[in-house]
Amino acid sequence: MRVLVTGGAGYIGSHTLLSVLGAGHEVLVYDNFSNSAPEALERVRRLSNRDFDTVEADIRDDAAVERAVAGFRPQAVIHFAGLKAVGESTEMPVRYYDTNVGGTLNLLAAMDRHGCGAIVFSSSATVYGEPDYLPYDEAHPTRPASPYGRTKLMAEQVLGDWAASRPDASAVILRYFNPVGAHLSGQIGEDPRDIPNNLMPIVAQVAVGQREKLMVWGNDYDTPDGTGQRDYIHVVDLAEAHAAALDFAERRRGAEVFNIGTGQAYSVLEMVAAFEKASGRAIPYEIGPRRAGDIAAMLADPSRAHRLLGWKAERGLKDMVETGWAWQSANPRGYSTD
Ligand code: NAD
Ligand code: UFG
Repeated sequence: MRVLVTGGAGYIGSHTLLSVLGAGHEVLVYDNFSNSAPEALERVRRLSNRDFDTVEADIRDDAAVERAVAGFRPQAVIHFAGLKAVGESTEMPVRYYDTNVGGTLNLLAAMDRHGCGAIVFSSSATVYGEPDYLPYDEAHPTRPASPYGRTKLMAEQVLGDWAASRPDASAVILRYFNPVGAHLSGQIGEDPRDIPNNLMPIVAQVAVGQREKLMVWGNDYDTPDGTGQRDYIHVVDLAEAHAAALDFAERRRGAEVFNIGTGQAYSVLEMVAAFEKASGRAIPYEIGPRRAGDIAAMLADPSRAHRLLGWKAERGLKDMVETGWAWQSANPRGYSTD
């Protein structure tokens, strides 16, 4: 299939390119590199031994989206391009709605004009909000606690209406839990542009000595060790879910939502201990106050994805931290060469 991959140079996108190219698809990447580097795509080309074109443009630029779709005539789209920082989304909500919701609208309009009827969308477990029960299944109520989360939920709703409007359309909505780790080669991985907010990039930076210590946001949660628990998922498992979602989109119509997690949660201190073991480095940390908006524990019921996509996570905690460390230690400054 010809697959347009928006945001393909990013953390999840670059890993997904390898899975999708490996499955034999042809790709076109659409990315403005606002949170990524062209070097990531060079590495994907080397690792996959496949070439593909890139359009450097903004997803908000409807004329550029139209040109890309008209020229490439994709049979499916994987839509990663978007903004993802929860804190930032409260400071610049208009930019988040414009990019995450408006970008999705631009893409769907161009797909309609050119007869493309399949999309795989990056949503987030953050759409659930404070849990009524755990693990979250896809029927759990949605009440996102940030503008970011609301942009994702709104895009999901747009996709549902779009899929219902066309008899040939399929929208596969993937709600990711917490992606971590890197490709086994250590050549591609997570390279946050600004100061990272997420746990594992910070832990990795402490391990390589770029930062003095980790602040653990709260140890008084109702969890076994008092620190927050999350369903961390290996980014290569997450990438493979997209290849399965493309196959599903080809054979099914309508909009479908899937949790993409492992069904296993680890606490902050468990993640720190695992990373210390993988890296052989101490990770100094200090216990701080709770972070505003944080939830004690998040956990996926991933059984629907297993049942309908034929996908399940295969890689465990050891793989997550070992590959994360291999990437970070070989590329302490990420893709930057300065
Ligand atoms: P990322 O920032 O590494 O990748 C996003 C890519 O989109 C980048 O290459 C960036 O340059 C590009 N992009 C951003 N704004 C753009 C624009 N206006 N026009 C064109 N390209 C643009 O992030 P990621 O972690 O790979 O996340 C990918 C998707 O998955 C995002 O939609 C994100 O919201 C979603 N998601 C991520 C996580 C996570 O924890 N990483 C969790 C749930 C959902
Ligand atoms: N944490 C710390 N110290 C830090 C950073 C994080 O203790 O410096 C803790 C948090 O309090 C939380 C856990 O580590 O308990 C994980 O935090 P992250 O920021 O890595 O991840 P979140 O679960 O808060 O959020 C992430 C993404 C969201 C996404 C959500 C669900 O940032 O965009 O996962 O998929 F929506």
